[in-house]
Amino acid sequence: MTELKNDRYLRALLRQPVDITPVWMMRQAGRYLPEYKAVRAQAGDFMSLCKNAELASEVTLQPLRRYDLDAAILFSDILTVPDAMGLGLYFETGEGPRFSRPITCKADVDNLPVPDPEQELGYVMNAVRAIRSDLNGKVPLIGFSGSPWTLATYMVEGGGTKTFTRIKKMMYAEPQTLHALLDKLARSVVLYLNAQIHAGAQAVMIFDTWGGVLTGRDYQQFSLYYMHKIVDGLLRENEGKRVPVTLFTKGGGQWLEAMAQTGCDALGLDWSVDIADARRRVGDKVALQGNMDPSMLYAPPARIEEEVATILAGFGQGEGHVFNLGHGIHQDVPPEHAGAFVDAVHRLSAEYHR
Ligand code: CP3
Repeated sequence: MTELKNDRYLRALLRQPVDITPVWMMRQAGRYLPEYKAVRAQAGDFMSLCKNAELASEVTLQPLRRYDLDAAILFSDILTVPDAMGLGLYFETGEGPRFSRPITCKADVDNLPVPDPEQELGYVMNAVRAIRSDLNGKVPLIGFSGSPWTLATYMVEGGGTKTFTRIKKMMYAEPQTLHALLDKLARSVVLYLNAQIHAGAQAVMIFDTWGGVLTGRDYQQFSLYYMHKIVDGLLRENEGKRVPVTLFTKGGGQWLEAMAQTGCDALGLDWSVDIADARRRVGDKVALQGNMDPSMLYAPPARIEEEVATILAGFGQGEGHVFNLGHGIHQDVPPEHAGAFVDAVHRLSAEYHR
C-alpha cells in the first residue's frame, strides 16, 4: 500500500495534531467545474458516469488538480443503493432524481433485496479501487452512503420532495412498515460501506440530508437509531489504520449531543450552527466538520476570507476541526471563489495549531 502523503484530514477527524486545518468541499466534483461538464457530456448521463470507473476516477480527481484539497470523495451518489434494490433510478433533466418503482406498502418492503455490494454495486467498488490507485497516496479517499431515513424519503416519495407527504404519512399511519424499510436499508448500508472500506475508502461519511425535517422524538427513532446501528456494524480499522466515520444531519444542530453518543468520530455541521457553541456542547467526544454557508462562495474573495477567519476563530485553538461548507457547493459558483476559500483555510489556520 502506498503511504499517504497528506493525512491531515484523517488526523483531524481523530483529533490528532495537524500543521494547518484540513479542508474539502461537499460535492467538490460537479457542475460548477467546466472540466466536469465536459466529462459528463462524454459519458452521456450521470449514472453512466458513475458506472464508468475510469471516468468516475477522473472527475473525482479534477477538483484536486485545481485546489489544494486535503481529501477526495468517491464520485457516486447516495441513490445507488435503492437503485440496486430494484427501484429504477433515473434523472429527469432539471428535475432531480426519480424512481420508476417507489415503495408504497409493506409488501413492497418485504420484496426488497439486500444488495450484494460486489455484485449489483460492483461498479461503485470498481470506482473506489480505480480512484485509490489514481490518487497514489496524495490524500485520503472518503466513501459515503445516505442514511436509511434519507434514502427512505426518496424511495417512498419516488424522488425529491418539499412536503414529505408520503413518507410522513407512512411514518405516522404505518410506522412498522417504515421501520421494516429502515432496518433493511441499515443492513444494506453496513454491507455497502464495509465493501467500500475493503475496496480502499479510508474514511466514511453518512449523509442524512433530510433528518432535519423530523421532530426531535422522531429523529431519534427513525433516523438516529438506524445511523447508530450502522456505526455499530462498520469496520473501524483497515490497512492497520482507524477508519473514521462522520455523521451529517442537515438541520440536526439541536441533536449534536445525541449524535456524538453513537460512537462516530466526527459530526458534520450545516451553517445554521455556531461552531464555537457546537464545540462546547460535544467537548472532546467527536471532531467537527464544517460549516461555512455554501452561498458565501458567491461573495468576493475578501468576504470569503473574512468568513473563513470567523469560523476558524469560532472553533478556536486545538485539534478536531475539518473545514468544509455546511452543504454541497452550488453549481453556479465561480471556480476561483472555491480556490480562494481553500487557500484561506490553509493560510489562516496555522496559528490555531501551535
Ligand atoms: O461530493 C462529491 O463530490 C461526491 C459526489 C456526490 C454526489 N451526490 C454527486 C452528484 C455525493 C456525496 C452525493 C450525495 C447525495 N446525492 C446526497 C447527499 C448529500 C446532499 O447533497 O445532501 C443527496 C441528497 C443526493 C441525491 C441527488 N443526486 C440529488 C438531489 C441530485 C441533484 C439532481 C440535480 O440534477 O440537481 C443528484 C445528482 C448528482 N449527484 C449530481 C452530482 C455531481 C449532479 C448530476 C449531474 O451531473 O447532472
